Amino acid sequence: MTNYKNLFDLQGKVSIITGGSRGLGREMANALSQAGASVVLADLNDELVQQAAEEIKAQNGVETLGLQVDVTKEDQVKNLVDTTIERFGKVDIVINNAGICQKIKAEEMSLQDWKKTMDVNVNGVFLVSKYAGLKMMETGGGSIINIASMSSFIANTEAQCAYNSSKAAVAMMTKCLANEWVTHNIRVNAIAPGYMETDMAKPLFAEDGELRHVLDYIPMKRLGKPYELGGLAIYLASDASSYATGSVFLVDGGYTVI
Ligand SMILES: NC(=O)c1ccc[n+]([C@@H]2O[C@H](COP(=O)([O-])OP(=O)(O)OC[C@H]3O[C@@H](n4cnc5c(N)ncnc54)[C@H](O)[C@@H]3O)[C@@H](O)[C@H]2O)c1
Repeated sequence: MTNYKNLFDLQGKVSIITGGSRGLGREMANALSQAGASVVLADLNDELVQQAAEEIKAQNGVETLGLQVDVTKEDQVKNLVDTTIERFGKVDIVINNAGICQKIKAEEMSLQDWKKTMDVNVNGVFLVSKYAGLKMMETGGGSIINIASMSSFIANTEAQCAYNSSKAAVAMMTKCLANEWVTHNIRVNAIAPGYMETDMAKPLFAEDGELRHVLDYIPMKRLGKPYELGGLAIYLASDASSYATGSVFLVDGGYTVI
């Protein structure tokens, strides 16, 4: 009989989570570590990433490492993967979570800003996937989880053409990498969240916030809580999802059904 608890168990697994020092990345790191995985947090913000790594280690009793990394810089990404291998011997799980959102009207957006969004949200996902993927190929496989967005599929109510285009690219990259790397036993899937209640989003959706009206468009009439992605992250990271690859999983309170 299948043991379902064992299927979700991540003990002995090594994970890298980009943008893991706060928000959704931090919460998914919390989820994976509670399921037993060691976590390497990679973030631009050195102070926050060290703090997050320490707290997760203290709370969940797993090995952690915090590294200051800019996912747009190839040498830093290589170093992230090499350091993970030196310290833990392998990498089994990657969550490509680092991302930025610039709310600028297309006609007012500079090429520099456009490139900045693409650099973090698209090139960063490519670079981390490539260098972690190469190691996974040597060690027999792994699971890559890209954080896309419901904005991969819809234009949203706000002006964020670059962000939405970048997240559409993340959804397509997920399918392409899944197809190319299936023979290496590397599964590649994506989570596409709707509006989530992170520190950044909270004021926008407060009583007098500029996006308050958007709550009306969400069938559940509320934002998602960061922990509401944790179960899916564990599922996709673990053997429980062994037949899933190239899929983009929406978690949006129903936003995209109407
Ligand atoms: N919050 C939402 O409502 C929502 C909805 C859909 C998708 N997402 C996606 O989820 C991910 C996390 O979102 P969040 O709300 O937690 O954002 P956040 O801004 O709270 O956290 C993002 C983290 O990424 C880091 N980061 C940014 N640029 C980086 C770079 N170049 N290299 C390394 N780290 C970098 C930041 O320092 C930060 O710690 C993003 O990809 C975002 O697009 C968020």
